[in-house]
Amino acid sequence: MAANDYARWFRGSTPYISAHRNKTFVILLTSEVLEHVNLTNIIHDLALLHVLGVKLVLVHGARAQIEQRLGGKASKFHNDRRITDADAIATIAEINGGIRTTLEALFSTGLPNSPLHNVDIPVISGNFVIAQPVGIVDGIDHLFTGEVRKVEKARVRTTLDAGGLLVQSPIGFSNSGQAFNLSAEILAAEIAIQIKADKLIVLDDFIVTNKADERVSTFTPTTLEQVKLDHSTERGRRLAAMSQAVRGGVSKSHLINFEDDGALLAELFTADGIGTQVLERAPQPIRRANVQDVAGIIEVIRPLEERGILVRRERDRLEQEIENFLVAELDGIIVGCCAIYPYDDHGELACVAVHENYRAQTAQTTGGNGIGKSLLIAAEAQAVQNGLTQLFVLTTQTQEWFKEQGFEPASIDTLPESKQSLYNWQRNSAVLTKPIS
Ligand SMILES: CC(C)(COP(=O)(O)OP(=O)(O)OC[C@H]1O[C@@H](n2cnc3c(N)ncnc32)[C@H](O)[C@@H]1OP(=O)(O)O)[C@@H](O)C(=O)NCCC(=O)NCCS
Repeated sequence: MAANDYARWFRGSTPYISAHRNKTFVILLTSEVLEHVNLTNIIHDLALLHVLGVKLVLVHGARAQIEQRLGGKASKFHNDRRITDADAIATIAEINGGIRTTLEALFSTGLPNSPLHNVDIPVISGNFVIAQPVGIVDGIDHLFTGEVRKVEKARVRTTLDAGGLLVQSPIGFSNSGQAFNLSAEILAAEIAIQIKADKLIVLDDFIVTNKADERVSTFTPTTLEQVKLDHSTERGRRLAAMSQAVRGGVSKSHLINFEDDGALLAELFTADGIGTQVLERAPQPIRRANVQDVAGIIEVIRPLEERGILVRRERDRLEQEIENFLVAELDGIIVGCCAIYPYDDHGELACVAVHENYRAQTAQTTGGNGIGKSLLIAAEAQAVQNGLTQLFVLTTQTQEWFKEQGFEPASIDTLPESKQSLYNWQRNSAVLTKPIS
């Protein structure tokens, strides 16, 4: 990679680095990941997140490993839930211990040629989950199959705040000291809800696609319900757990294909991501700006002002005029803005700008439109709502783009008179107008 490509890529990830710092992510390492050649790379990527200040709880699955050991030994299931007898719980405890040891070992590798060289990650496991038996369902005693009764939230928090990375097996203990076998996906969702995590991330071997085999980048629990998840499949249960987490207050759940090396970082550090996310509500990337957005707007417009593409606006002017602004926000980051200044029934569209890392992107979150176009659509709707009948724009370098958005060149004397008197002849901007209704 050329030095400037590398620098560009690295700079592009800066807003995400600050957005993720001090956030808490619960990661479900499904049992299949543990067997995959990418496991080591995933551990390195998780270590990177830890180093960047993300607080991590790793919940691992064990189903594939349990199947391997107990498979032939007639495991019994009811409604796709394993019935765990006394022999099975002993073997399951042993398997989980083995998996934890493998993960601890991977986080401890620090050879000079390893990404973990000079990185010290305290990996912590323990009795963080209180379980209770599922009991007798449809007349069938589920024995040592359990469900989460309580997560020791305060203890999890103290561990994370002290810099620990928590590894949690799908096992919980009852108050009488009995171990119970838990479903890893439900456990991950429960922990994420109870500790008020910012994300639940599921590493699985698929992402959601539509009929045309295209990635579906965003779902809401409601749209997932319409799909009628098949809870008898692992995929169905994992998607349901992602939904459950979001319904329980976790901001976002992500599904990432672990077979795709680097997918975790690509999902977390790029605007469009690479997996499927579940959000409580469909995202509304364009919204009215408020005074908290001023710093983000400045980040977007300063480089363009310095190049003379936009006229300079000082911070206090932005603060005074913030009501005129719309912003585009992705993943909590201001990536674009525009402003409408009314002149009777005309409106000046100004300060239309998209951060250079986010230009010419067709995000599914913006209905397949680029961010610039989405801002214009929203600005037009806002202008109509404000009773305006015509938009105009003064631009030095972006005529073509505005023409593609339906604007037409016009002469200066078509501008409202008060604007004509302010026209900067030295700047000699082109005037374009668009009737709106
Ligand atoms: C103009 C701007 C807002 C468009 O934002 P965006 O999110 O990239 O817009 P969209 O994704 O909707 O459109 C992108 C398309 O417009 C094209 N485009 C961008 N700037 C252009 C320009 N100055 N002239 C012609 N086409 C342009 C892109 O090449 C891209 O084309 P493609 O779809 O064929 O790849 C953005 O490029 C920008 O911030 N430019 C600098 C600021 C500016 O000029 N503002 C206007 C001053 S009033």
